[in-house]
Amino acid sequence: MRSARVAELLRQMTPAEKLGQLQIVFRPQLEDAAALVRGGLGSVFWPQSAAASNALQREAVENTRLGIPILIGLDVIHGQRTIAPVPLGQAASFDPGMVEELARTAAREARSGGVNWTFSPMVDVSRDPRWGRVVEGFGEDVHLNAVMGAAMVRGYQGPDLAAPGTIAATAKHYVAYGQPEGGRDYNTVDVSSHRLRNVFLEPFRAAVDAGVAAVMASFNTVSGVPMHINRDLLTGVLKDEWGFGGLVVGDADGVANLLPHRVAETLDEAVRMAYAAGLDIEMGGSPTTSGWDAASLDPARLDDAVARVLGVKEALGLFAQPYVDEAAELVEPTAESRAQARLAAGRSAVLLRNDGTLPVARPARILLTGPYATSTDHLGAWTQAFSARSTSIADALRERPDVEVVVSEGVSFFGDRSDDVDAVATAALESDVVVVCVGEPSSLSGEAASRSDLRLPGRQADLIRAIAGTGIPFVVVLCNGRPLVVADWIDQSPSVLEVWHGGTEAPAAIVDLLFGDQEPAGRLPMSFPRAVGQVPVHYAHENTGRPATVRGAMTLESVDVVLEGPANVAEKYTSKYLDLDLGPQFSFGHGSGYASFSYGSPRVSAAEIGPDGAVALEVDVTNTSARSGDEVVQVYVEDLVASIAPPVRRLVAFERRTLDAGETATFTFSIGAEQLGFRLADGSLLVEPGVFVLHVGGALDRTQPVALRVR
Ligand code: IFM
Repeated sequence: MRSARVAELLRQMTPAEKLGQLQIVFRPQLEDAAALVRGGLGSVFWPQSAAASNALQREAVENTRLGIPILIGLDVIHGQRTIAPVPLGQAASFDPGMVEELARTAAREARSGGVNWTFSPMVDVSRDPRWGRVVEGFGEDVHLNAVMGAAMVRGYQGPDLAAPGTIAATAKHYVAYGQPEGGRDYNTVDVSSHRLRNVFLEPFRAAVDAGVAAVMASFNTVSGVPMHINRDLLTGVLKDEWGFGGLVVGDADGVANLLPHRVAETLDEAVRMAYAAGLDIEMGGSPTTSGWDAASLDPARLDDAVARVLGVKEALGLFAQPYVDEAAELVEPTAESRAQARLAAGRSAVLLRNDGTLPVARPARILLTGPYATSTDHLGAWTQAFSARSTSIADALRERPDVEVVVSEGVSFFGDRSDDVDAVATAALESDVVVVCVGEPSSLSGEAASRSDLRLPGRQADLIRAIAGTGIPFVVVLCNGRPLVVADWIDQSPSVLEVWHGGTEAPAAIVDLLFGDQEPAGRLPMSFPRAVGQVPVHYAHENTGRPATVRGAMTLESVDVVLEGPANVAEKYTSKYLDLDLGPQFSFGHGSGYASFSYGSPRVSAAEIGPDGAVALEVDVTNTSARSGDEVVQVYVEDLVASIAPPVRRLVAFERRTLDAGETATFTFSIGAEQLGFRLADGSLLVEPGVFVLHVGGALDRTQPVALRVR
């Protein structure tokens, strides 16, 4: 439904003015941007400052015939000035409330500088850690992507997009960009309609339900059709089936890329095909540069695209107030935003293993080693030159009382002649505990950052093994933007803390975690493979006819199903690798904490429901330790028999909560059609009769079952 203002503008606009609304020019110089806006360009990719943004808005509002304000877009991915953990880290928090609040802060900072549109969140389900962009999203699970993506949308946009401090969000990259062949960025995607519906589209549907203002088309093909011209998915599913009323933006030069895709002969043809398929804003400037004639597009489609763009501007309140208060621009983090970022970095950490060395007891003489001991590379991919910098772990550790800190990096990230593993091993003998800070520099993840080798680069594994050889207690702190292959050192490392690229306040948070001032209670949002040859490895794989793990005796009548049977690896004709143990090194959902928890038996409010019914699932959880701590209760559904081969399990609900020492709390989840059903090729949800097992616990390998029958 078009507003009166949009309808009136459409009536007055010339084809050239309409076309101007359908483009965003990528990173222009300020003077070029000003000239383009004066010439009718409707959106600019321009992060600079409140003053620069106001100058551009003034060109649009005061120096164009119709005075239409502009969208000012930027990749605000995990913060603007105050940088929060990378999205993969935020996903590990299993705390959508935190994700929403971090996005609020990012929106406030960005909008204060005139940015009113972000190209975030990325909700591409990502199951191949070779793909560097896994860092930008929420990992391998459909439900986690859907929940976290929706939380981020709510955080950026607030309850009212026109309120101060909000920005329009963009769900990207539509669709299936997270499954490029070989994990190579921009590569072909071939996906069945079953997986498209049940895996890749679902988080976008959740973002649309959350009211996302924009959706970005992805670079990849789906079934041979590049997404920038994929009418079935852009118009058919997104706009017609889901009723998405916002705008579809292209990725940078995604339209120009249709030529190397070999689906268009000329740029003019590419532009026409893209708009005809449902693209509303082209990113990169192809129509302007090609002198494309808007008249070659169906007038109704042209007006629809323009109305969508104007609709987002109107929702943002730009017609009423295009300018921001330059004096109120937030150029530095505040004490509150720093505290929030520090807490978030701590809540994103995952305790992969612990032999009791963590938390580190004080007083202590600590040797801090590894390239991340002194590195300040904690912000992660997609931060800007103007983002607040981070300090180093060494800097943060030196500020703490009761510790004597010796710093010796030992090795560089990529290995060079200064590497001296032996000297560090000798120094280790003089310390009570060694903290080995290793990882993957941020340049190795993000866009166009695929890797074929997922081990720690350089001689970092040698360093860990050398420290292990000393017999001195030690902790490995992993700073990275993707799941890594850790097989060459993990067995020698009983205490490992995964902290991702944690943002501006990461070093302080890491030290909090080391001493137990924060609880590392996150869970892995993506499985860590045993070897790169095992990729993609993810927990929710479909049941095969020859599984290597025997599912135990299973009767539809009995709830006493034995679900984890013995491994069937001795059987030759089963699905496995001859040279690897079964399953990933660390699975999705893995993680513990410093506190410990016990579970009562899960119970459902009814043993049987109809296909439209729902039950309350409850479980009592007790903190059995002497300290307060967080537990992440996860609920997985297993469909025992279905008309398609169902996933072995799939996450349908979770909650993270803090429990005091000795406290028992009841966690309650609603389980109904959305959790039990699956989508058919036409998008409809089917709940089949039969038995479903709900697995409830703090990690996939620590769950208890309860059965539910659907009539
Ligand atoms: O938003 C990004 C997108 O994710 C990848 N290509 C560039 C765009 C704009 O920076």
